[in-house]
Amino acid sequence: MIGLPAPDLGCWNIADLRERARARLPRGVWEYLERGVEDETGMARNRAAFDRLQFRPRVLRDVSAIDVSTEVFGRKAALPLALAPTGAAGMMWYQGEAHLARAAAKAGLPFTISSAGTMELEDICAQGGNQWFQLYLWRDRELSYDVVRRAHAAGCEALFVTLDLPVMPNREYLHRNGYGMPVKANRKNVPDMLAHPRWLLGVLGRYLLHDGALPTQSNLPQGLRQSLAKGAKPGAHFKQDDLDPEGIRRLRDLWPGKLVLKGVLHPDDARLALDLGADGVVVSNHGGRALDHSLAAIDALPAIVEAVGGRMTVFLDSGVRRGSDIVKARALGADMVLVGRAALYGLSAGGEAGVTRTLDLLREEVVRTMGMLGARNWDEVGPQVLAAGN
Ligand code: FNR
Repeated sequence: MIGLPAPDLGCWNIADLRERARARLPRGVWEYLERGVEDETGMARNRAAFDRLQFRPRVLRDVSAIDVSTEVFGRKAALPLALAPTGAAGMMWYQGEAHLARAAAKAGLPFTISSAGTMELEDICAQGGNQWFQLYLWRDRELSYDVVRRAHAAGCEALFVTLDLPVMPNREYLHRNGYGMPVKANRKNVPDMLAHPRWLLGVLGRYLLHDGALPTQSNLPQGLRQSLAKGAKPGAHFKQDDLDPEGIRRLRDLWPGKLVLKGVLHPDDARLALDLGADGVVVSNHGGRALDHSLAAIDALPAIVEAVGGRMTVFLDSGVRRGSDIVKARALGADMVLVGRAALYGLSAGGEAGVTRTLDLLREEVVRTMGMLGARNWDEVGPQVLAAGN
């Protein structure tokens, strides 16, 4: 008998969801989701750095009631966790961004809309919940400012400006797997897609059936895709190799909400962010997808927390796969953690239900870790929960 899939999807940790995702996606889409850059040492280092940190639990504490909620930018969140901005979610699931946004809203967590997404930002905002918008700047800055105004009008409360891709990252695997941007059918990728019939019908087929076309991912300002399909529009390409502090000041003047600079690993850059009027930074090496051989974000965190001294909100991402990673990041001073791949594994495994599974698993793992540590709330999680010399 064919029944509805169980809510657990047969997945008991993020690694299970990752395997589901890998099996379902064509190689090219999987590699876009999963891979880093060059020799992927930055990606490996993110995990090694989390794994190196050891807990030092306390016993004989009453942990019968554990509160894992927190507050960021004046809003309560069910966990110190938000969904990171990730492009091309629509290639992993039909209208993937909407599924991510709905799952986040139902879990009481913020969702960050990527400017490299495959849906219009207004349509994503209409899914409800607390939404933030991430910006890559286009060559024609006026196009970017227009998107920023639209994000504000649509109700986004924070603007995340991503700084750690001043130039294009080196994704060598794209040459091998035949998936350029935008994706065009060729001898390499067509057999790959045909070998994944569930994806072909569930994603590609639905776009062609419902929308009459594939979503065009990346490099196109939200809202310009249709006009671009008719003819190239000059300036509609990401280009921020000339972005400097003045460029951030301009955005600060334009954006009335919270401003967050994403992709900071040096304490001096965190201080600069403060000087520029930012409300937060994301300590991140872009999940090992920008500069290979960069230090792990979790290793960069303590110096940045010290540099900003409670004067701004500190987010952390890159390598988070377990609730214990979230607890470690909080112990080292992060206010909130973002997850990129963990949410996309869930999305690719089962759409909204899969993302919900990711978020449920992470929540359960956070609660369990705190119980084991003898901590009832975040006030009781600090450097003391980690072994000395970590
Ligand atoms: C990303 N990331 C990203 N960041 C950003 O600022 N804008 C974007 O459009 C994207 N797109 C994107 C796509 C995919 C497939 C991934 C995996 C990541 C980076 C993302 O926001 C975050 O920094 C990392 O994903 C964090 O690392 P983990 O959680 O993936 O290990």
